[in-house]
Amino acid sequence: MTSPASMPAEPQWRPPRLSVVVPTYKERDNVLPLLEKLDLALAGIAFEVIFVDDNSPDGTAEAVKQAARTRPNVRCIHRIGRRGLSSACIEGMALSAAEFVAVIDGDLQHDESILPQLLARVEEGADIAVGSRYVGEGRSEEGLSAGRQAGSRLATRLSGILTGKALADPMSGFFLLRRALVMEVAPHLSQEGFKILLDLVATAGRRRGGRLTIAEVPYSFRPRHAGESKMSPLIVAQFLGLIVSQLTRGLVPTSFLLFGLVGVSGVFVHLAVLSLAFEVFGIGFAVSQFIATMVAMTTNFVLNNELTYADKRLTGRRFFTGLLSFYAVCSFGTFANISVASLLFTAEMANFVFAGIAGAVMSAVFNYAVTRIFTWR
Ligand code: GDD
Ligand code: MN
Repeated sequence: MTSPASMPAEPQWRPPRLSVVVPTYKERDNVLPLLEKLDLALAGIAFEVIFVDDNSPDGTAEAVKQAARTRPNVRCIHRIGRRGLSSACIEGMALSAAEFVAVIDGDLQHDESILPQLLARVEEGADIAVGSRYVGEGRSEEGLSAGRQAGSRLATRLSGILTGKALADPMSGFFLLRRALVMEVAPHLSQEGFKILLDLVATAGRRRGGRLTIAEVPYSFRPRHAGESKMSPLIVAQFLGLIVSQLTRGLVPTSFLLFGLVGVSGVFVHLAVLSLAFEVFGIGFAVSQFIATMVAMTTNFVLNNELTYADKRLTGRRFFTGLLSFYAVCSFGTFANISVASLLFTAEMANFVFAGIAGAVMSAVFNYAVTRIFTWR
């Protein structure tokens, strides 16, 4: 038996002052390089690293847990059946017990060496400190393709509608703030999409009556280390949805906007199929109308499943049961649409445009609300 004296000294544990949250999806080969860089950047600061991985098929979570066996300050939230950058960041920050929390990408594009500066700015009184590509020495050229640079600038302008001139790089995914502030606004944040910072600033700004101090620290956006970007048309659609939802004070949720857009696309699908069946194939009107309705409902279902509810995407058997429930709900919705429109048509003395639109909006709200309960639970 070994005497206590010969045992290795317990490493001294200090409660972390800073939790660094790293959302990951397919970043296995970036885990260790990032941890090494964080160790260097944050030497002297008691910190922990919270990875939030959405069960990446490349085994990112396993790589984090391997690292955690020798690094007591590393943890992993391993989410199953979930996707989404914003929700990952929110859940990572919610796990923290530290006074300060930071969010940084897992692909080494953000320059971790400015973390101590971000921390200092918040300690000095800023509400949020942001790593910015668009102030002072900040640069984005290296890390973004020409096309994405243009897109990023455009998105930055659009976000200005929400944040005013408060912030040069509201699209940044690299920031630090007090945990108390995040947890105060967390219930009001959208869980969808990529733009957690934009949402945080807009929401916290509103709650603070427009008095939010933001400090920006410049850095150069680096090229991605291993793996590839998860930016996609869906993420762009979710971003536009976030802007409108913020402008309407959250009255119109992003998913409703996407649902509505999909609905509009369904009208075009319907008309295209109807004219094909009725005019080109000479099928009777009633049957053509039936076929067009079924096709449009099906494309609407598929698009909503891929876009609006990408985070709850139905697959396999549940895809088919979901499709059936979608048909059922939409049939009710159509029935409601026709009843409301006819009622208004008679009451409003035959204003068919008003009656028609009211009926359509009514059934969209109905379909949206009910499919959220029965189809995409
Ligand atoms: N858990 C989780 N779930 N993490 C995700 C998901 C997801 O669904 N999607 C992306 N991530 C992680 C990535 O693994 C990476 O660590 C980080 O989020 C950023 O994702 P990238 O795919 O690398 O995004 P990007 O480089 O195109 O965009 C980044 O730069 C933009 C600036 O142009 C992000 O930081 C954006 O927020 C930022 O606006
Ligand atoms: Mn990236």
